Amino acid sequence: MEIIIQPSAEAASSYVARYLAAQINNRPNIVLGLATGGTPEPVYAELIQMYEAGQVDFSRVTTFNLDEYVGLSADHSQSYRYYMRSHLFDRVNIPLENTHFPDGMTDDIPRECRRYEQAIAAAGGIDLQLLGIGRDGHIGFNEPTSSLSSRTRIKTLTEETLRDNARYFESEEHVPYHVLTMGIGTIRNSRCILLLAHGASKAEAIAASVEGPLSAMVPASALQLNEQVIFVVDEAAASKLSRRDYYKWVFENKPAWQQVV
Ligand code: F6R
Repeated sequence: MEIIIQPSAEAASSYVARYLAAQINNRPNIVLGLATGGTPEPVYAELIQMYEAGQVDFSRVTTFNLDEYVGLSADHSQSYRYYMRSHLFDRVNIPLENTHFPDGMTDDIPRECRRYEQAIAAAGGIDLQLLGIGRDGHIGFNEPTSSLSSRTRIKTLTEETLRDNARYFESEEHVPYHVLTMGIGTIRNSRCILLLAHGASKAEAIAASVEGPLSAMVPASALQLNEQVIFVVDEAAASKLSRRDYYKWVFENKPAWQQVV
């Protein structure tokens, strides 16, 4: 695992945006896994700026989003398909047919989840998965005690996650209880994982994921088993890491040939 500590949320987001752009430029037909929520918003904003400046081209990129609310259609302003269109897809040159989501309006959830897994496999798997993290350590919407080898399926949000997500809805009662989410096993199949977190509210989850024991109680701790995982955090999110000086030392002394951005 690589732990990159940046001085601020802005610097952490910018690092991730530049990392994504470098990987797209390196491999124009890359398959990206994408996240929604507050954390990646500045990343997508910077990618749009880079696209407008002619520094990155999305025309051959394929994307798979982590999750979608059950019962929200693509034109619902809180659906994740709507989020991705307004925060990124409608503002860059990605063909919409290259963008994929689990369908929260399906009338056959198990079949839809199998279809999503098959679509990821048919695209050759995910090259680079962008993740945020919940305060309880969830990735995608794999809440604590999710199976560490789970695949795409329906999950019930915890009350804490419902409250956290209520900021986007009229009120807490409007947040759907159920989501379709890639499983931890699905996420772990990605060839590279880039997890971004900022703010003190994420510090415990980051410390437990990076330095704690591997446990279904902290879904992101499963990433310890992956070959290529990069945590990009700001100082506040890093504040509970016991070895943060070491992580900074490693980053400062990274050989030039290993530096992506
Ligand atoms: C979103 C997702 C979630 C969020 C997490 C953090 O697609 O899968 O795991 O990344 O809930 O959300 P924010 O960034 O709003 O704190």
